[in-house]
Amino acid sequence: MGEIVRLQKYIAMSGTASRRAAEKLIEEGRVKVNGKKITEQGVKVEVGCDKVEVDGKQVKPENRKIYIALNKPAGYVTTAKDQFDRPTVMDLVSSEIHTRIFPVGRLDYETEGLLLMTNDGVWANKVSHPRYESSKRYYAVLNGVLSIQSLNRIRRGVVVDGKKTTAAQCEIMEIEGGMTLVEITIHEGRNRQVRKMFEAVGNPVKELKRVQIGNVQLGNLAEGRWRYLTSGEIGYFMNK
Ligand code: URA
Repeated sequence: MGEIVRLQKYIAMSGTASRRAAEKLIEEGRVKVNGKKITEQGVKVEVGCDKVEVDGKQVKPENRKIYIALNKPAGYVTTAKDQFDRPTVMDLVSSEIHTRIFPVGRLDYETEGLLLMTNDGVWANKVSHPRYESSKRYYAVLNGVLSIQSLNRIRRGVVVDGKKTTAAQCEIMEIEGGMTLVEITIHEGRNRQVRKMFEAVGNPVKELKRVQIGNVQLGNLAEGRWRYLTSGEIGYFMNK
C-alpha cells in the first residue's frame, strides 16, 4: 500500500503547485481523482494507486532527489514546525520547492549560515552521522579576548556535557573592541557544540555562522537564499 496523503499535499509533492495553491486548484474545480472532479478540501489519496489530474494532465509525486544549500539567517528554527510559531527554514524554501525536504542536522535559532536540505535520507545520514565525521567550519565572534592558552585548549579538546571534544582547528582572525573573531573547524556535531566549547573556556559566543560542511561552501549565497548542490558536492558525501 502506498502512502495516504491529502490531495493538496499530493499535488504539492508533484511539484505542480504549493500546498496553498493546490487548495485553490481544487476549489476552482481543476482537479480530478480517478476521473472524478473534486472540489472539497481534505480528500485523501493513495500514492502509487490513485490517479490525480490537474487541468486534465496526470500529476505524480516527485521522486527525484533534491539537494540544496541554504543560507539560514539568525531567527529561524531548523524544524518543520515550531511550538512557539517562530519562522522556520521551511518558510525560506517552500515557495520554490514543492517537494518535502528536510534539514540535514541543525543550526541553532540564533546561528546563521550553511544548512543543507534534502529528501534523500541515506545521503543525509552520511553527512550528519558521527561515523563519517564531516568537517564543519564556522566563524564565531566571542566575548572577550581569547588567550593563547584557551585557543590551545579549544584545539586539543574541552569537556562539553561531560565528554571531551575531539581535536579542532581554530585560528584567531581578529581582536577588536574587546571581542575575538575566530575560525573554527570541528569534526563532530554535538548539540550547541561550538557555543559550549567557547563557554567552557570563558569566552561565550556572541555571533555564530557556519560557512562550510565537507566540500560545500556557503560562498556568497545571500542570506535567506538557497542553491542546488553540484554533483561534485553531492558525490563527496555519497562516496564516504
Ligand atoms: N554549534 C553551535 O553551538 N551551534 C550551532 O548552530 C552549530 C554548531
